[in-house]
Amino acid sequence: MAEYTQAQKGGRSPDLSLATLAVWAGEDGSLVQGATQVPVVYSAAYGYPDVDAWLDVALGREPGHIYSRNTNPTVHVFEEKVRILEEAEAATSFATGMAAVSNTLFALLSPGDRVVSVKDTYGGTNQLFTSFLPRLNVEVELCDTSDHEQIEAVIAKGCSLVYLETPTNPTLKVMDIARLAGAAHDVGATVVADNTFATPINQNPLALGADLVLHSATKFLSGHADVLGGVLCGDRELVKRVFHYREITGASLDPMAAYLLIRSMKTLHLRVHQQNESALRIARWLEAQPAVTTVNYPGLESHLHHDVAARQMRGYGGVLSFGLEGGFAAVKRVLPRLRLAHRAANLGAVETIAGPPATTSHVECTAEERAALGIPEGLIRYSVGIEDADDLIADLAQAFTVA
Ligand SMILES: Cc1ncc(COP(=O)(O)O)c(C=O)c1O
Repeated sequence: MAEYTQAQKGGRSPDLSLATLAVWAGEDGSLVQGATQVPVVYSAAYGYPDVDAWLDVALGREPGHIYSRNTNPTVHVFEEKVRILEEAEAATSFATGMAAVSNTLFALLSPGDRVVSVKDTYGGTNQLFTSFLPRLNVEVELCDTSDHEQIEAVIAKGCSLVYLETPTNPTLKVMDIARLAGAAHDVGATVVADNTFATPINQNPLALGADLVLHSATKFLSGHADVLGGVLCGDRELVKRVFHYREITGASLDPMAAYLLIRSMKTLHLRVHQQNESALRIARWLEAQPAVTTVNYPGLESHLHHDVAARQMRGYGGVLSFGLEGGFAAVKRVLPRLRLAHRAANLGAVETIAGPPATTSHVECTAEERAALGIPEGLIRYSVGIEDADDLIADLAQAFTVA
């Protein structure tokens, strides 16, 4: 678990921008023997010839590492980098994004608790809400994501945790974090926000009132589709509770995965800026295409909550989704024709990735469950890579000739 030192005071250095912090943050003290890059420390345990010194670290009186399921020097640097970008007091990491989501929920909730969330969270998260938590006698109420009045009314009935995801996967709905965090805090609930789609470059939920922010690091933080990971940042005491739970469940991030994430995050700012710019251009182009029925992108003026997105985001992100005239049959014709996209269940990479909810975000759900969640089968989720936007538009145009 990474916690801020006195020198860092829990916030980012006021004179450094996100671009600079993405490169340098969290690496102080980790470099050895003149190395300029963070070492990958592959040691299961850490030795202490002096038993008193060992005891001091084991009991948390002195900094250090005991066993890599709990903490690891390379993993610590990754946690610090994200913690500083999210301006959090503390951070802890996980083997995957779903480990971050599930460990957070299971660590903080007890039988009899009530959770309020929304219908179109990521499919795996939705499965926790609909299958796993109710089994443990945790009541979950899933609201219409776009209806803030309804969500506020449901929260006002009392709950212990409010779980937000914004923008959502795959319909790119936007939730007003400050407004819903206010409603949650009025009833004493903890607010958790999944910031995977926005990244800390575009949005900082903690600054908007959330208590905890989490990421599937597999997506934009990695950016290269070659590693799985998750991370949680926020209030020190809450992160500590989740960290202790994760120490025991053992869903720890591997040191090599942490190294790849540290390396990838050095270009996070560059990648996300390019993806923001290209996604907005492509979304505007898609809106003008006769083969396209709907375009979901928070940067479009036509988006239901564009005003909220403009207030709480610095950029609108690299993912959009669109519906095709002809539904799922048209999706099956168009997708194979794309030359500049992987058809895969991933997003946030340097390469463009496209796919329908049935094989990507909501593969865990049945067609009926997707329909109940308001996820159309005829949707294509399009994660914009760092290719030239004109090339991507030309590729979509040629693919649409069969739509
Ligand atoms: C918004 C969001 N949260 C969480 C996850 C889960 O992350 P992972 O696949 O790393 O377990 C995903 C995966 O797609 C996601 O899109």
